Amino acid sequence: MPIRLPARSDELRTLDLLTPREIVGELDRYVVGQNPAKRAVAIALRNRMRRHKLPPEQAAEVTPKNILMIGPTGVGKTEIARRLAQLSASPFLKVEASKFTEVGYVGRDVESMVRDLVEAAFDLVRREKQAEVREKAERAAEERLLDLLLPPPQPRSGEGPQPPEAAEGARQAREQFRATREKLRQQLAAGQLDARTVEIEVQDRRLPSFQILSSQGVEEMDVSVKDLLPGLFGGRSRRRSVPVAEAGQILLQEEWERLLDADQVARQAVERVESSGILFIDEIDKVAGREGGHGPDVSREGVQRDLLPIVEGTTVTTKHGPVRTDHILFIAAGAFHVSKPSDLIPELQGRFPIRVELTPLTEDDLVRILREPRGALLTQYQALLGTEGVELSFTEDAVRELARVAMEVNRTTENIGARRLATILESVLDEVSFEGGDAGPRAVEIGAAEVQRKLAPLLRDQDLSRFIL
Ligand SMILES: Nc1ncnc2c1ncn2[C@@H]1O[C@H](COP(=O)(O)OP(=O)(O)OP(=O)(O)O)[C@@H](O)[C@H]1O
Ligand SMILES: [Mg+2]
Repeated sequence: MPIRLPARSDELRTLDLLTPREIVGELDRYVVGQNPAKRAVAIALRNRMRRHKLPPEQAAEVTPKNILMIGPTGVGKTEIARRLAQLSASPFLKVEASKFTEVGYVGRDVESMVRDLVEAAFDLVRREKQAEVREKAERAAEERLLDLLLPPPQPRSGEGPQPPEAAEGARQAREQFRATREKLRQQLAAGQLDARTVEIEVQDRRLPSFQILSSQGVEEMDVSVKDLLPGLFGGRSRRRSVPVAEAGQILLQEEWERLLDADQVARQAVERVESSGILFIDEIDKVAGREGGHGPDVSREGVQRDLLPIVEGTTVTTKHGPVRTDHILFIAAGAFHVSKPSDLIPELQGRFPIRVELTPLTEDDLVRILREPRGALLTQYQALLGTEGVELSFTEDAVRELARVAMEVNRTTENIGARRLATILESVLDEVSFEGGDAGPRAVEIGAAEVQRKLAPLLRDQDLSRFIL
């Protein structure tokens, strides 16, 4: 087997090159409807690209237009964020506001979101750099493996001029060596040497690492002993006899690491965050409220106060260096069932000038959500059962009926949006899923009658539907 790095299927496409229309197009493949939200996000992203093209003094003036997405539960707010993350070549992080607590309380402090974002950027830049030096690393690893398979002759040294016959002999030996090495290279590429083993130095990977708990939070202090005492732990290695293929991979990883300049990666990660980082703050409504006084409200308003400087622009210390947050784009989202956006402290409201509302889903939307998005629910079940030879299909009426029932249950119990589809579908398919491939390969078609047969008993009884659907 030739020494190759595993191909990555998740290579990032550059969101930066996409126009707003194209970004919306990409999102359309996963999220049904909710056009205003998609548009707002797309415009904000594009504006940042536009900003990069301005002269620096002017660019510094343009602050990002942060977005607040408002909409009932289960209509696609988080889904938009998730898909953006996958699309985005910008460092992107989604956090839940409810996870944070005010400084001084036990829990994660708000600044840690910036540190996590830098960490995400670090991985992103590292992956890009690794892709750049991939071929170089593969070549270097191959040479080193060949050295192990056929150790190069030791050069003679310091013996004065040689007699001509000896020089001629040495030249032939070198020639011979080179030919053998090339032959080995071909055999290696053809996988003919995989059965052989070679002796190789391997680093002891079991490095102790510890965390120090501090008021700054765990992450900041997460330094492994290796970084502190390279001589003590980094140098420890053992000789091991390993199959050629494995040796190739070990050498490759070593070369790959060696070609990366960690400082440079860190510097670029910080730059990337400062100029194009995106922080998605989900569940922002959970920290809304400013009645103040006592109880959880103190901490909630505190989280908002802690959030404020970060959104307005401050410097956060991270393990890769200080990071300015002025140009990070913030997208906040929340259902705002109980609280309203106006319950956020005024300063924070002002920092999210773009408001987009996500609309409740209609029956038609649900039909589309069942079928259309990449990895839609129906296709998931089809794929799962397909692994056991069951070919599952749904009639047009059945899909419509599923959506109709979902709407009805949402209306009569609680509206949980598209999430309702999952529980309903689970109930409808429970027999098929239980049987699986037991009855041998077969085709199963679910019709509207089947959907009604499974769901009617549950629908008749309010309490049952409350618990099961
Ligand atoms: N517009 C939509 N298009 C496609 N799928 C959707 C859509 N809305 C919801 N879904 C599906 O429903 C699930 C829940 O949606 P999502 O997580 O986006 O809800 P949310 O709006 O963030 O709600 P909450 O306020 O409760 O967090 C998603 O995993 C997705 O599969
Ligand atoms: Mg959500």
